[in-house]
Amino acid sequence: MPGTVVITGASSGFGEAFALAFGRLGHPLVLGARRTDRLAKVAEAARKAGSPRAIALPLDVRVRESIHKFAVAAELETPEILINNAGGALGRAPVAEVEDDDLVGMIEANLTGLLRMTRELLPGLIRRKKGHVINISSLAAHGVYEGGGVYAPVKHAVRAVSQALRLELSGTDVRVTDVAPGMAETEFSVVRLGSEEKAKSVYAGMRPLTAQDVSDVVVWAATRPPHVNISEVVLTPTDQAGLTKVHRR
Ligand SMILES: NC(=O)c1ccc[n+]([C@@H]2O[C@H](COP(=O)([O-])OP(=O)(O)OC[C@H]3O[C@@H](n4cnc5c(N)ncnc54)[C@H](OP(=O)(O)O)[C@@H]3O)[C@@H](O)[C@H]2O)c1
Repeated sequence: MPGTVVITGASSGFGEAFALAFGRLGHPLVLGARRTDRLAKVAEAARKAGSPRAIALPLDVRVRESIHKFAVAAELETPEILINNAGGALGRAPVAEVEDDDLVGMIEANLTGLLRMTRELLPGLIRRKKGHVINISSLAAHGVYEGGGVYAPVKHAVRAVSQALRLELSGTDVRVTDVAPGMAETEFSVVRLGSEEKAKSVYAGMRPLTAQDVSDVVVWAATRPPHVNISEVVLTPTDQAGLTKVHRR
């Protein structure tokens, strides 16, 4: 029987695609996000796709107590795979002008939350000698750009967490994968820029990745035999040669 997959940020975008993909493969799921109405619909769709059990639980990765409550419930399902996906970017302001709420929000959701969730669920994976932590960093973990003076450092830190975990977990049989996508059209840019219209302009004239493309990579990494650890995957649209180089037709 396939192991339980815990997915943070499963109410939209990549997280939703992961839920459906692992559901199709028959995995039980524990899904977390703040928008519980959306999350419940994803859980329902995952069950229809083939998941024998898909639980939707409220989760705010910026709140320590919320992570703890979620993790206690998730642990009862004996998770095997943790996908730390919740997060995103807030604004594109240069460091000189960045709003404090955005600065703290990006650090707490993408980094502090990821570390706390991992700390909660790792002991179980180690004890059971079976597990896989998959962190969703970003192409921004591999470079920098103007207007990404908080988001890029935070995603660099996520990648560094993945690297440190691989060392700390050596000999435990728990695998760690860092997946770093480039531009993907989800709700990411709507959240970042505050409107559908501004979000559309981000992808104007180019073909971005889809959530499905990223999900394909995550499922591939998770389905390698136990002796194979996919450490890092960077995937970009063919139209994106780098963080500051996008081909637009
Ligand atoms: N799209 C891209 O171009 C791209 C590229 C590289 C990396 N990424 C990363 O991929 C991950 C997923 O992004 P996406 O593209 O799928 O964007 P998305 O469609 O906006 O999804 C973000 C998910 O994170 C959840 N989330 C955000 N803040 C949260 C919080 N405080 N507590 C719990 N859940 C929270 C959201 O759920 P609720 O709002 O319901 O809580 C949502 O389910 C993020 O870490 C992002 O930084 C995205």
